[in-house]
Amino acid sequence: MQTDAGIADAPIKIESFLAPGDERSLADDVLDGLTRPFKELPPKHFYDTRGAELFDRICDLPEYYPTRAERAILREQAQRIAALTGAGELVELGSGTAAKTRVLLDALHSHGSLRRYVPIDVTEAMVRDCAADLVGEYPGLQVHGVIGDFERHLDGVPEPLAGGSRLIAFLGGTIGNFPPGSRRRFLRQIASLLRPQDHLLMGTDLVKDPEVLEAAYDDSAGVTAEFNRNVLHVLNRELDADFDPAAFEHVALFDRQHEWIEMRLRSQREQTVSVKALALSVHFEQGEEMRTEISAKFTRGRVQDDLAAAGLELTHWLTDPDGLFALTLSQPLEGR
Ligand code: SAH
Ligand code: AVI
Repeated sequence: MQTDAGIADAPIKIESFLAPGDERSLADDVLDGLTRPFKELPPKHFYDTRGAELFDRICDLPEYYPTRAERAILREQAQRIAALTGAGELVELGSGTAAKTRVLLDALHSHGSLRRYVPIDVTEAMVRDCAADLVGEYPGLQVHGVIGDFERHLDGVPEPLAGGSRLIAFLGGTIGNFPPGSRRRFLRQIASLLRPQDHLLMGTDLVKDPEVLEAAYDDSAGVTAEFNRNVLHVLNRELDADFDPAAFEHVALFDRQHEWIEMRLRSQREQTVSVKALALSVHFEQGEEMRTEISAKFTRGRVQDDLAAAGLELTHWLTDPDGLFALTLSQPLEGR
């Protein structure tokens, strides 16, 4: 773990839990995922600087409704959330550029309770840039940034501030990017960071017309396709691989049985790719598909059950007028 040398009482502290070369456990995931009969890569590897920029563009696409819907809910409900939680500290998992978070920070700031913001993200530049911006925007705010993988480094979240409550935000529907088993395991880890007076605010995309869902993940401008193929650029750069991204087609389909969107990359031809840093050759048949992301869609019942399995009680279910997206407030179950 590396900590930036700081001046005592400086408003920004940044800790990094990513060892150089171990960024996002890429090598292990590639060895594991590309040697299986059905090839797969975890979605966290999309997010290098270019991937983060492409994700920002996705958020502005006409087809990608989740960001707009979640922002609308936040605008409508942020004051209420501030009053209900009275949080002195906002911890955010997968914070990105913290664009929507400002709505929450504004409400907590004007409520008078906000003292510290703790963004956690695997993309170093995002944590650093957002920390620098926010201390300028919110006078008196401390930012304790954590650069790390939230699946491996949740113990890097600092101890709660004395004498206040904590709100953990997990926005954007990122919980949907976990497969079901690890989703509940991860929620349990989040729950272990909550005391009885603390809350979790979680965003989930909701089940809807498959056509609307598939368009959101296969936009007409091709930005999501570029985002999907970006993982191949990451492998080329970080593991000295020789993927030809143009030889892989973007696929997005709604799996009605599991109620999740699946993004895949389909090999356009038979080819063998070399991953030199791992001395690995990976063969693809023509038409073979590699899974790069699932994005689960939820119902209220599914969210409630997942939270309950993690020892959390759903207290508020907040949706946009069109019922596209939901924000859920939950708290540790009594006597857990
Ligand atoms: N919360 C923002 C960004 C969502 S995009 C929003 O709602 O718009 C998902 C974010 O999670 C990205 O910033 C990505 O870098 C981060 N992320 C994905 N997997 C991660 C992991 N395992 N650990 C930490 N951050 C992760
Ligand atoms: C970050 N995550 C919630 C996005 C999603 O919708 O699953 C990532 C994304 N993938 C394609 N478009 C956006």
